[in-house]
Amino acid sequence: MTAASILGKPTSRVDGRAKVTGGAKYAAEYNVPGLAHGFVVTSAIAKGRIAQIDMADALAVDGVIAVFTHANRPKMAASHDKYNDDIAPGGKPFRPLYDDRICFSFQPIALVVAEEPEIARFAASLLHIEYKQEPHETDFEKQRGEAFVAKGDGESHSHKRGTAAKAFAGAPVKVDIEYRMAVEHHNPMEMFGATAVWEGNGRITVYDKTQGPVNCRNYLANVFGLEPDEVRVLVPYMGGGFGSGLRPQYELTLAVLAARALKRSVRVTLTRQQMFGLGYRAGNIQSLKIGAEQDGRLLSFSHEFIGMTSQFEAFQRTNVAWSSQLYKCANVDLKQKLVRLDQNSPCDMRAPGGAEGMYAIECAMDELAYAANVDPLELRLINYSDRDQMEDKPYSSKELRACYRQAAERFGWSRRTPQPRSMKDGNDLVGWGMASGIWEAMQLEASARAVLGANGSLEIASATADIGPGTYTMMAQIGADLMGVPLENVTAKLGDSDLPQAPVEGGSFTTASVGSAIAAACRAVQKDLLRLAQKAAGSPLKGAKIDEIEFADGRMRRKDGGGEASFADAMRAGKVDRIEKEASAAPNEKSKYAHYAHSAIFAEVRIDQELAVIRVTRVVNAIAAGRILNPKIAGSQILGAVVGGIGMALHEETLTDHRLGRFMTHNLADYHVPVNADVHGIEVIFVDEQDDEINPLGVKGVGEIGIVGTAAAIANAIYHATGKRVRELPITIDKLMRA
Ligand code: MOS
Repeated sequence: MTAASILGKPTSRVDGRAKVTGGAKYAAEYNVPGLAHGFVVTSAIAKGRIAQIDMADALAVDGVIAVFTHANRPKMAASHDKYNDDIAPGGKPFRPLYDDRICFSFQPIALVVAEEPEIARFAASLLHIEYKQEPHETDFEKQRGEAFVAKGDGESHSHKRGTAAKAFAGAPVKVDIEYRMAVEHHNPMEMFGATAVWEGNGRITVYDKTQGPVNCRNYLANVFGLEPDEVRVLVPYMGGGFGSGLRPQYELTLAVLAARALKRSVRVTLTRQQMFGLGYRAGNIQSLKIGAEQDGRLLSFSHEFIGMTSQFEAFQRTNVAWSSQLYKCANVDLKQKLVRLDQNSPCDMRAPGGAEGMYAIECAMDELAYAANVDPLELRLINYSDRDQMEDKPYSSKELRACYRQAAERFGWSRRTPQPRSMKDGNDLVGWGMASGIWEAMQLEASARAVLGANGSLEIASATADIGPGTYTMMAQIGADLMGVPLENVTAKLGDSDLPQAPVEGGSFTTASVGSAIAAACRAVQKDLLRLAQKAAGSPLKGAKIDEIEFADGRMRRKDGGGEASFADAMRAGKVDRIEKEASAAPNEKSKYAHYAHSAIFAEVRIDQELAVIRVTRVVNAIAAGRILNPKIAGSQILGAVVGGIGMALHEETLTDHRLGRFMTHNLADYHVPVNADVHGIEVIFVDEQDDEINPLGVKGVGEIGIVGTAAAIANAIYHATGKRVRELPITIDKLMRA
């Protein structure tokens, strides 16, 4: 890196001004002439068929343009396969408005389109819907006995080595426990919405709230039988997703369906309540049996995870494998099962799989620490694994020891007295707990374009999205650094399916994937520049190879000091006013290493002795995630994720009314999330971690690691404060009082 490098600097967001001034428009804020407004009507029952929808009263309302149902909708693809998308789990994806079959409460069954949104909403209330109701089952606990290992995906999560049952039977120290987690919903600030723009030129353009414009473009092409170039999906800005926008959601399908039928622009927005009919983080039951030597060394580790899914798909992510990446153990038995319920499929929610599995793993490790009378941090160090035992591979880098050390020191862990209820302060019980975090550092194939102008401007473009983590800034910073131009000269373009193709933004893989593509595109521009410069008569760069040149301050300099040339001079010599290159980057499939980001989280809670009110007063989270390109923006990712972890530990819970088979806490009054008063001191430490193997930038991604382990650290702190184990999230006041 050059001295002028902007990578690693705490640069503010390049889109910050647009975001805070309202200049950044969301999908439902694009006003186009002749826009019609759609309001969705959703099912009141969980299972059955639509017998009849009488729309006469709705159609009679002045200003109503049309009502679409399964009975009168335009042609859509019949095969479930056509509704698959990049993120779809195994099974038969839901087909919105396709037929009379009801598979879940809140399922969209009609779209009322009117001249004004209020008219559409009012007319929607006048639809007379008759159902042929069938008995539904939404009770997870009741269906537990029906849990099954899903073919393919589910089987791949099963893992055995050694003889876990035998080792457990003979172990001097044992932990044998069950944990539970409630269903959670994402609740991003921006509501789901789509504005389908009818241009009458045979092409449809849609602004949609999505984490994947390319994924949505392909989905629409498949569902409506269009060529991919007949559809364009745009998402220049997004007000949060947390995974809820990874798959195409039905507001997109319905807006396009109506626009094509009416040959008119149509906007569809969902209400907050309707958003509870989209995906969710699956509730789960986790059983762990851990056997250890008297000194805490692991002898056996068994973990069974039961999650929930719909009747039509088998959604699950990696829940149980994580203990094998963190802790050395010869005898292991891991399993993931699913229970089918009459509700929509779950979907990814920040750190899907890891956030759930690591809650139970890290609480169980805390229980083991008490059972063995070993300090919880010491227990992690005793069992520290230098190999990924699932794949039997070493890590490309793993500075987790440094995370433990630095976070413990910052937190003051050595001053902790281990005995529960031993650290009172006035009327408050004080508790200190800790946990580990881990997340896979993934990379997917992606493309990017770099365009260098003779005036020193640089445009970086890729069809990724920026759901909030600062992707615009990341793209601009990488471009500025690699090309050697000031950040102000760089424009980043994203959120447009017409741009060089990129995967959905998710999985913490965007910087590794798109960043690597940007690096490749900039490299291609550099090679052209050097070639042009060397064409000039008497060029001081003659004979120099690309690796012998430093690109900085808009100039190419021989590293040996043998001369230099400006970009502008090179382009003049080549008689061009711009150099444009597109390039792709793919992960190294032949890597012999396992790639993971790690963390150590320490939490302090204060709990009122009489009222059992829990406050998370301090969190220190030390992260090892390779090279940190921007500590300010990356730090904000961790802060936000820790707040998500506080919500998971104490607040977030979607409750079901089983008589109706319906989520009932479907608003922000009944679904609790942490607010400012719930958030106190959170400190983020980025541990130095050099990784030259993982990708050219040495980055791992930080979008999700901050939530993994946070709920466990808080739950463990609550035990330390009170001596009570509440093995069910969220840990609410009533549960703590009853324990
Ligand atoms: Mo993230 S749950 O991959 O948006």
